[in-house]
Amino acid sequence: VGAACLLVAACQQEMAVQPSVRPDEAGGNRPLVAGTVARGHLRADAPLYTGHRQLHSELRARPASLVGTARNPWEAIAIAVAQAENDYVEDFPIEVNRHVLDHGYNRFMIYCVVCHDALGTGHGKIVERGYTPPPSFHIQRLREAPVGHFFDVITNGYGSMPEYKQQIPPHDRWAIVAYIRALQLSQHFPERDLNEEMRKQWDEQKEKQAAAGRQEP
Ligand code: HEC
Repeated sequence: VGAACLLVAACQQEMAVQPSVRPDEAGGNRPLVAGTVARGHLRADAPLYTGHRQLHSELRARPASLVGTARNPWEAIAIAVAQAENDYVEDFPIEVNRHVLDHGYNRFMIYCVVCHDALGTGHGKIVERGYTPPPSFHIQRLREAPVGHFFDVITNGYGSMPEYKQQIPPHDRWAIVAYIRALQLSQHFPERDLNEEMRKQWDEQKEKQAAAGRQEP
């Protein structure tokens, strides 16, 4: 966790968000004591690890049984927060640049494309064979969904979609989310933001489509 944090400059500031729990207390049969706070051990950075804005102090008062079901302390917190809150971050807790997008694309093609297809319309290979079809990323609800929601879906699963918190580390999950945002923009770029060159291409494309439509029997 600490090493992953080093990758992110913003992380240091976000570290102010506390409830950190001693990893050794999660092990064995001993249930994790709610309200256990230790410094210098595993720290939960809410935006980075959960996609939620903050960890609520209320969480510390949760029954130990609930927390005790998770694999490790910050997961316990992440799960509880995800279930209890609807407080998703709107902005990426990591810096998004070309490298991150390329990496996100790469991970997306490994983990997601089989169901969501390369464009994210939900017609992947597995779906063709009868798996529940996912919604398109280009529907209005998902275009308007905060980035934290996507992070949460990857982390904890969603309906019939499996969770990926074991296979995909948090930074890779954020890279995938960044790539999904890029995909969404590729299909719904605000027309007012087109520059002259893009507008020209757009008009030409519309012309061609109209012409193709006229040719159909
Ligand atoms: C095995 C198929 C499968 C894989 C692999 C998969 N998904 Fe999904 N995904 C689904 C299905 C099915 C749904 C719809 C679930 C439902 O509504 O019950 C879904 C839904 C979603 C949603 C929409 C949630 C909402 O609010 O409606 C997002 C976002 C998403 N998946 C992202 C991803 C990402 C990112 C990956 C790769 C890390 C991924 N999925 C991998 C099957 C898959």
